[in-house]
Amino acid sequence: MKKDSVTLIDNRTGKQVELDLLKPTCGPMTMDVRSLYKELGIFTYDPGFMATASCWSDITYLDGEKGILEYRGYPIEQLAEGSTYLETCYLLLHGELPSKEEYDEFEHSIKHHTMLHEQLLRFYSGFRRDSHPMAIMVGVVAALSAFYHDDEDIHDPQDRLAAAHRLIAKMPTIAAWSYRYAQGMPFVYPDNSLGFSENFLHMMFSMPTEKYTVDPLLAKALDVILILHADHEQNASTSTVRLAGSSQANPFAVIASGIASLWGPAHGGANEAVIKMLTEINESGKPLSSFIERAKDKNDRFRLMGFGHRVYKNHDPRAKIIREICHEMLAQDKCQNPVHQKLLDTAMELEKVALEDDYFKSRNLYPNVDFYSGIIFLGMGIPLNMFTVLFAVGRTVGWVSQWNEMMADPQSKIGRPRQLYTGAPTRDYVGIKKRS
Ligand code: SDX
Repeated sequence: MKKDSVTLIDNRTGKQVELDLLKPTCGPMTMDVRSLYKELGIFTYDPGFMATASCWSDITYLDGEKGILEYRGYPIEQLAEGSTYLETCYLLLHGELPSKEEYDEFEHSIKHHTMLHEQLLRFYSGFRRDSHPMAIMVGVVAALSAFYHDDEDIHDPQDRLAAAHRLIAKMPTIAAWSYRYAQGMPFVYPDNSLGFSENFLHMMFSMPTEKYTVDPLLAKALDVILILHADHEQNASTSTVRLAGSSQANPFAVIASGIASLWGPAHGGANEAVIKMLTEINESGKPLSSFIERAKDKNDRFRLMGFGHRVYKNHDPRAKIIREICHEMLAQDKCQNPVHQKLLDTAMELEKVALEDDYFKSRNLYPNVDFYSGIIFLGMGIPLNMFTVLFAVGRTVGWVSQWNEMMADPQSKIGRPRQLYTGAPTRDYVGIKKRS
């Protein structure tokens, strides 16, 4: 019997199988169940993948019990403190921090892919002005697959890298133009003299009629927020990207599927839902305790948005950093806004009350990345319906890095889960005339 293995015995037949335990760099040992169906004729059952490793990956490591998040081994706290979003993009894509030359070459490539094909501008006008920007982003990113398809070989590492650079570079342009379209304002083209986050704020807020200077403090806060959102292991949208990409589909269509998955309020859509929840609380005039009770009531669909996480059973390390940025930003006189301050005060009070409540403590429900991020976005002048769009801008590098890692693996297969069938047993067809 091998040391690193598990023996399963089927008590119906006494038949047993020895399954290898795969040893990770860090994290739990992982049982290799690939031979289980062949050996014992049984499936594993794990809806929501609560305890299932869907793949191997070298990119991001999470420890939910300790509240640890690392990109390619670097703690998120150190990257947020010392790196930039674009440098973090290089790290996630290539696995190592870049040299100065490597960084300059990468930055040059990204800067020279920020434009969209002029015909895509007309694509926007097909949307109603009040369309949710996430609907526009899903559509426009999927439409990019019509511009980059026939001459793309997803089995060529250089072609994959070109698609990755295009997506990282174009997402801020697509995002900002979704906002400008909704506002009835002219599209602002990227300015290659600006950094990644400065350029996004420039495309969002500058007007052709006057000079616009990006506030460096807001640009820095945005850059850190994008670092914090860049990747997060096999979350729902990344798993969507891997599954869609496993059929060897067009990478732009694949990333559009990730954007669609991120939009849900249980996932990336939570940042928008948090602000709606905090506003409802502030405008209701009711005590916080009434909302805490509602969140605990199984018969009430109300949840504490921004609270809880499938993996973190401790504080989400990103939430701690974002909360600090909230305080710093709202302390700056030009960002002071009594409504935003009230939202932050309510959020902090809610966190305090919830973390003292047995219901939340017993379920290890802590604030997650979405709990405070919306308050920062409001402070930047970014409207509510753009919050998840910004999450998608930050997460694009994680999606393309995970997609690229999967496509580069010669062992990768099309994802095709099985099921526990609970439907009708075999039965004969009866013509409608004979049916009662
Ligand atoms: C993101 O996976 C990732 O990494 C995602 C993400 C990323 O970077 O990609 O981190 C980004 O999506 C963060 C999560 C954003 N979503 C929200 O904030 C929405 C509110 N949170 C919940 O919907 C929930 O916590 C989830 C969806 C985040 C996690 O759900 P799970 O892991 O399936 O947990 P669960 O629903 O089974 O909850 C366990 C218990 C349940 O109660 P019991 O059945 O045990 O009695 O905790 C309760 C839940 O009812 N619970 C909550 C709650 N979250 C869980 N109760 C009140 N309020 C909440 N927010």
